[in-house]
Amino acid sequence: METLALLGGPPVRATLLPYARQSIDAADVAAVSAALTQDWITQGPNVARFEEALAAHAGATYAVAFANGTAALHAACWAAGLADGDDAITTPLTFEATANALVHQGARPIFADIDAATLNVDVDAVKRVATTRTRALVPVDFAGLPCSYAPLVSLARERGWIVIADAAHSLGGALGDRQVGSLADMTTFSFHPAKMITSGEGGAVLTDDARLNDRLRQMRHHGIRNIDATSPWRYEIDPPGFNYRLTDFQSALGASQLARIGTFWAARDRLARRYRERLADSPFVELPALPHGVRHGWHLFVVLLRLERLRTDQDTILHALRAENIGARVHYRLVYRQPYYRKRFGYDRGLCPIAESVEARLVTLPLFPAMTDDDQDDVLRALDKVFAHYAR
Ligand SMILES: Cc1ncc(COP(=O)(O)O)c(C=O)c1O
Repeated sequence: METLALLGGPPVRATLLPYARQSIDAADVAAVSAALTQDWITQGPNVARFEEALAAHAGATYAVAFANGTAALHAACWAAGLADGDDAITTPLTFEATANALVHQGARPIFADIDAATLNVDVDAVKRVATTRTRALVPVDFAGLPCSYAPLVSLARERGWIVIADAAHSLGGALGDRQVGSLADMTTFSFHPAKMITSGEGGAVLTDDARLNDRLRQMRHHGIRNIDATSPWRYEIDPPGFNYRLTDFQSALGASQLARIGTFWAARDRLARRYRERLADSPFVELPALPHGVRHGWHLFVVLLRLERLRTDQDTILHALRAENIGARVHYRLVYRQPYYRKRFGYDRGLCPIAESVEARLVTLPLFPAMTDDDQDDVLRALDKVFAHYAR
């Protein structure tokens, strides 16, 4: 048996393979350079161009660009009118930003357990945790797999809730012929470099609702509303918003990247399917479900450890992979287990039992468009090496 790098043996590869990496080409650089030579380097013509391209890509009427995905989420909560005393239901298996945005609007995040197969929020669990003060449902397309929106949206319609889809992971994904971005009242995206396309930092909210579109634009620009289109100096504010604007040169990068979303998605999809083929019979990992008719966005490639077959835990497996120069990560630590959420809302272990058992088994493997088959083979070799060492 090969000696693990963790125990002093040679690593599988000489340099770290990160879990994610942006792909920037000459066209991106040219687009940003051109934007920087214009008069308006913030809120210039590229912002509208990027917004139009996003809306067209997703089949939504409106897209509003934001400084980052967190700002987009916060703006969606603001535009939805969430306020003190409201409840909003979300998943515990997400980046903190999802729940933080609710808290920043004064709403209480309520966590519904996930489906064990897809790892997305479970509609029956949503029904179980609903309160009379619930105003919004905020599903997350975990790792890039679009949620099963039909039952979620129909439940929300029945109860009068607004649906804000956090699609930070799933740009390029689809349910049948409906693109992510057209499946909820508002859909938020992130363009962080680890995501499907990047604008450095960046985000957007998509909607078909003209009133929400106006509110989102107001919110990202301090809450300012023009009261006379021919006199830009006449405006009012009520209530105050934020400066959440995306710059023109970032928008130029975003639009240039969006033009290649098909290529990025195809590269991720090919690598993800290759991972799934190679790992399908592994006794040491389980793969999340890939339901028929769903186009996964493949932001992350996640496996679940079969801890009953291993003499160790998630932490040691992650350290062992890191030592082999494989940038494995965990997405995510459950939001309600964070000290703030425990203290402020009194959440405790046992709240979402499926999410808790999944959390202890999650490992994210590297996946990004420029990753080569050799890179991926290094990941698979490192997994074999580490699992052989810790097999029961
Ligand atoms: C599920 C989810 N929501 C929201 C965000 C926030 O996006 P950003 O990093 O662009 O603020 C992220 C980003 O990592 C995310 O993964």
